[in-house]
Amino acid sequence: MAILKVTRLGHPVLRLAASPVSLEELATATFQRLIDEMIETMHEYDGVGLSAPQVHVSQQVAVIEVANSPRYPQAPAVSLTVLVNPTISTRSDETQLGWEGCLSVDDLRGRVPRARRVTVQFLDRHGHEQRIEAANFFAVVLQHECDHLQGQIFLDRMADFSTLTHLKEFRRYWASEEIPPPEPMH
Ligand code: NI
Repeated sequence: MAILKVTRLGHPVLRLAASPVSLEELATATFQRLIDEMIETMHEYDGVGLSAPQVHVSQQVAVIEVANSPRYPQAPAVSLTVLVNPTISTRSDETQLGWEGCLSVDDLRGRVPRARRVTVQFLDRHGHEQRIEAANFFAVVLQHECDHLQGQIFLDRMADFSTLTHLKEFRRYWASEEIPPPEPMH
C-alpha cells in the first residue's frame, strides 16, 4: 500500500469535473487499491476527507472519516465512508458557517457557508446504492468532497476572504471559535 502524493492548489486536475466510475471499473483490483490508498493517504495527513482529484485521479470517488482528528479536534466522529459517483439530492435552505481547510490548500483555513443538512446518494465501494442524510460537520465534509468532484475548492464558496487564515494564526486568534454556534444566514 502506498501513501499517494496530494495534489496542491494550482494543479489543473483540481479544477476539472471528475468522470463517473463504471461498475466494471469499480470492481477491479486496481480501483479497489486506489480506494485503499486514498484511505491510507487521508489517515497519513490527518484529513477528514479526500477526493480522487486530490491524488491526481479525475474520477468521482471520495473517502471520509472523522475520528479524533488533530486538524478538527472538536468534530464529532463519522465512520469511514467511501462515496462513488455521489450526488447531493437535497440541501436544506438553512445554512451554517464553519471552518474548513483542505489538504490541497496547505496551511490555510477559512469560514465557509454551507447547507446545514444534505442528502447524498452514491455507490459504496461494492457498487451498492446508498443514501446518507447528514447534518452539521458531516454535511459540511460531504459538500466539501462533492465540490472537489466538480472542480470546486472551499475558497470558491467563501463569502469573502476576511476569515482566511494560516493555521498558526488560526490557533492563536480564531481557535476558540472553531465550532461556532448555529448562525443562520440569508
Ligand atoms: Ni479539500
